[in-house]
Amino acid sequence: PHWLPLLGRHALVTAGPTHEPIDPVRYLGNRSSGLQGYAIAGALAQLGANVTLISGPTSLLAPSDVSLIRVETAREMEQAVMSSLPVDIAVCAAAVADWHVVNAVTSKIKKQAGTPPPSLSLEPNPDILARLSAAGPRRPALVVGFAAETDDVEANAVAKRKRKGCDWILANDVSEGTNVMGGTHNTAILITEDGVERWPLMTKADLALRLVRKIALRFGAPALA
Ligand code: C5P
Repeated sequence: PHWLPLLGRHALVTAGPTHEPIDPVRYLGNRSSGLQGYAIAGALAQLGANVTLISGPTSLLAPSDVSLIRVETAREMEQAVMSSLPVDIAVCAAAVADWHVVNAVTSKIKKQAGTPPPSLSLEPNPDILARLSAAGPRRPALVVGFAAETDDVEANAVAKRKRKGCDWILANDVSEGTNVMGGTHNTAILITEDGVERWPLMTKADLALRLVRKIALRFGAPALA
């Protein structure tokens, strides 16, 4: 395209789920497909940004002109994010697992008749978005988080923006029946320092473009005619 308002800007995007191993064949995971994050990475690149996409396990092809770093666990994702700094823009779209299994083992756990099932012992994962937002001099100029909510979407997202210390939160309603997680469409509420925008139902690709145009404006791009 002729309009490359993000030329010279560096961006990182996290996307997809994380997998937290239980043993070599089992893991804790979630239903994130990575579609929304991959679309955002692609849209940032289309507008000229230099993009690093840090992705948990997905079945998606990386958009062209994006450097892809594949990770499995939240802790690997955090390391990859921190070593990709400095960037101007960070968009945390990954559905990072909240916990990892501290008693994960390196041999497959056998099921044995007559013995009780194994117990998993969980510990919290690092909050990548919160750490990025508090990264001091290495903090990206713009940090965007996501919020997947099922109730009180707006109030929860406003609270989450404060708690995480990020600049913007894009909140999705993922309640049953919305088919957002794993689906092709999304409807979002964008919370910024200036207030709340309600966006209509659109494809994840359109939502990515709309978000990235807004990012470009924030970095001083002229409004599209
Ligand atoms: O706390 P919650 O998971 O609802 O917050 C969602 C936002 O925080 C998303 O932007 C997600 O990518 C980010 N996050 C993260 N690291 C975590 C948990 C969430 O970066 N451990």
